[in-house]
Amino acid sequence: MPVAGPADSRPAIGVLISGRGSNLQAILDAAAGGQIPARVAVVISNRADAAGLERARRAGVPTEVLPHRDWSSREAYDRALVEALRRYGVRLVCLAGFMRVVGSPVLEAFPQAVLNIHPSLLPSFPGVDAPAQAIAHGVKVSGVTVHLVTADLDAGPIVLQAAVPVHDGETAEQLAARQLSEEHRLYPEAIRRWLAGGWRIDGRRFVTTES
Ligand code: GRF
Repeated sequence: MPVAGPADSRPAIGVLISGRGSNLQAILDAAAGGQIPARVAVVISNRADAAGLERARRAGVPTEVLPHRDWSSREAYDRALVEALRRYGVRLVCLAGFMRVVGSPVLEAFPQAVLNIHPSLLPSFPGVDAPAQAIAHGVKVSGVTVHLVTADLDAGPIVLQAAVPVHDGETAEQLAARQLSEEHRLYPEAIRRWLAGGWRIDGRRFVTTES
């Protein structure tokens, strides 16, 4: 099993969380198991009570708590995020249930290098409560999306998607739980593809250039 340390030359990932951190766990497990050739160098949360911080500590990954209310503007907060991510040599930023919009300071510091996971088949149901939106609209199929983050909310180039059927009569919570299992599979796979290179952005599209 790869072990993080001074001699660890694998690319550094920074994961941003606000809560439970089950996607963080999937990423930590995939890195530890060698499914993704990278290491999680830092986990940053805007909330000190995020349960995911404990997952990071258990995995021996450094954590940083940056409560957004400690900064006077969104831009100043974003600059603090960039500074922390740079301190750990981060190459790829993964938003995993990070309940803040990241703005231009982060996107300019990490061009085409910020990923997010969203519990719907984007562009359907962007924003909050996507599973509830899917139930309210009566769709028969929803899913999960990993996309590159751009200035437009939940509208960046799509790296990977997976469909999740919506069962008759199920609640938003039940759908969200089944989506979550797909997220745990899809996010590490999307990270693996991003790290492998051989892709480019063509307009809104994430296009693989190698077979
Ligand atoms: C997931 O549903 C993800 O799609 C959304 O926020 C939730 C995070 O869950 N962006 P967790 O903290 O990874 O368990």
